[in-house]
Amino acid sequence: MNFSAYTSSREIPVRAAGAGMEECLFQEAAMEKSRTNIPCSICSGTNHADGGRDFQGPVMFYGHGGLIQTRISASIELRKMLGLPATETNVYRLINSEGDGLSGLITDVLGEHLVVASSAAWVERMKIDEVEVVENSIRYRASPTGQKTGFYADERDNRHFLRLLCKGKTVLDLCCYSGGFALNAIVGGASHVTGVDSSGPAIELAKANAALNGIEEGRCTFIRQDSKHFLSLSVAEGRSWDIVILDPPKLAPNRKVLPRAMVQYRRLNALTMRAINPKGLLMTCSCSGAMTQSGQFLSVLQEASKQAGRKLTQLRYAGPSSDHTLDVSYPEGAYLTNVLLKVH
Ligand SMILES: C[S@@+](CC[C@H](N)C(=O)[O-])C[C@H]1O[C@@H](n2cnc3c(N)ncnc32)[C@H](O)[C@@H]1O
Repeated sequence: MNFSAYTSSREIPVRAAGAGMEECLFQEAAMEKSRTNIPCSICSGTNHADGGRDFQGPVMFYGHGGLIQTRISASIELRKMLGLPATETNVYRLINSEGDGLSGLITDVLGEHLVVASSAAWVERMKIDEVEVVENSIRYRASPTGQKTGFYADERDNRHFLRLLCKGKTVLDLCCYSGGFALNAIVGGASHVTGVDSSGPAIELAKANAALNGIEEGRCTFIRQDSKHFLSLSVAEGRSWDIVILDPPKLAPNRKVLPRAMVQYRRLNALTMRAINPKGLLMTCSCSGAMTQSGQFLSVLQEASKQAGRKLTQLRYAGPSSDHTLDVSYPEGAYLTNVLLKVH
């Protein structure tokens, strides 16, 4: 198998936690399959006093490269322990920054490709426009030139859990991106699924993914629209669903804007609750570190339920899938909350 990975021409600083020395990852490189059957090859180099660098491989670290190599190997071993990759899943997070002791380095596996990104700024992706990946036996086109590294692998377990609840239900997937929750709902036997996203390319990708999995057109509809606009129209027209997933973009990029973002989360969730059938389900998410770390997401949802005139029962409280490791001494790494609620 010919593994390759693409990074930008920018240099990503990578700090090995506890190393006391900065190590840098050089790019402009396509990684190769290594002897450990890992889809990348990492080499050590030297940082000279005059600012020059030695590097002799497709992807280079300088400084104590051995430490980084050890941590990368540990990350790979940990994913193997978690059963990744597997026949039914070949898209997952291989290196999760501080969670794997490699602050600043995020690496996702997309089938036979690695997408490397810095946490400071998502790296410009090159050369691969689209790849095909499989997650829990559902096939996806993933576009590394699109959002994130091309695929939101963090919601894998949550998508799978949702799948188990959908038999015979009508489902609305708000902020659906490439259709991850929507396709799981269909595979789980939903009678009809509607996916909504404001991004045209995301909607095209979701439609392509439905076709890729042989899903009949009548079973799902993907609509390009602002979620609030869609919900307002639906509520006005008296449309509602048995199960709604709400997975908005990061509304609180930092703590300073958290109070304003909490108002947005409250309003958006209240509006969403109004579009849920009595005793229906809401799977609602926040991918804002500031929101998750504040511990106030449930309070926001409680306020939203009052606003919507509904009562909530919490059924499940979850975070990202286990490949999105978290160093417990670095709680700032926590970002995703996924709550499943019964909406009375
Ligand atoms: C966190 S991602 C969703 C990931 C998706 N649920 C999945 O499982 O792959 C957030 C999505 O919200 C979409 N989005 C951003 N603003 C939006 C808006 N106002 N209305 C609808 N969708 C929006 C983005 O295009 C993006 O696809």
